[in-house]
Amino acid sequence: MLNAKMEKALNEQINKEIFSSYLYLSLAAYYETLNLSGFAAYYKVQANEEYAHAMKIYDHVHTRGGKVELEAIAKPQVEWAGALDGLKAAFEHEQFISKSIFSLVDLANELKDHSTNTFLNWFVEEQIEEEESALAVVTKLEMIGESKNSLYLFDRDMGKRAAK
Ligand SMILES: [Fe+2]
Ligand SMILES: [Fe+2]
Repeated sequence: MLNAKMEKALNEQINKEIFSSYLYLSLAAYYETLNLSGFAAYYKVQANEEYAHAMKIYDHVHTRGGKVELEAIAKPQVEWAGALDGLKAAFEHEQFISKSIFSLVDLANELKDHSTNTFLNWFVEEQIEEEESALAVVTKLEMIGESKNSLYLFDRDMGKRAAK
């Protein structure tokens, strides 16, 4: 049976993952306005992944006899200062999510909740990948700088990202 504190923390994480999905969808919509359809496609895929993360936790809560309680989803940011600013915001957000996952691991340790601890391993590993890929696109766009030709090619590459 899931400890009440753990249940509450996991419910909060479900909200954060759904908010992440919402934020990336908002970012996709922003890139549509910049005519960067590859960037938009990339963040639409990312939005779906975040929703899947929320569902993974949803299932874990139920498997452990807990109750999922959904809260309101905050309005995400809708405008950024440019293409690079949006990518940087995504990287910062992933770092925030990693911290949140680490706090959940700390709580699982404190409560000696070994099954949630094992469950969270997947998220710890996923966050390494998430931060790595979010930083990689920032670095690439910084290299491109003001080159319109390179941006065109990069946008095309971004659009090739397939759902995991
Ligand atoms: Fe996530
Ligand atoms: Fe993520």
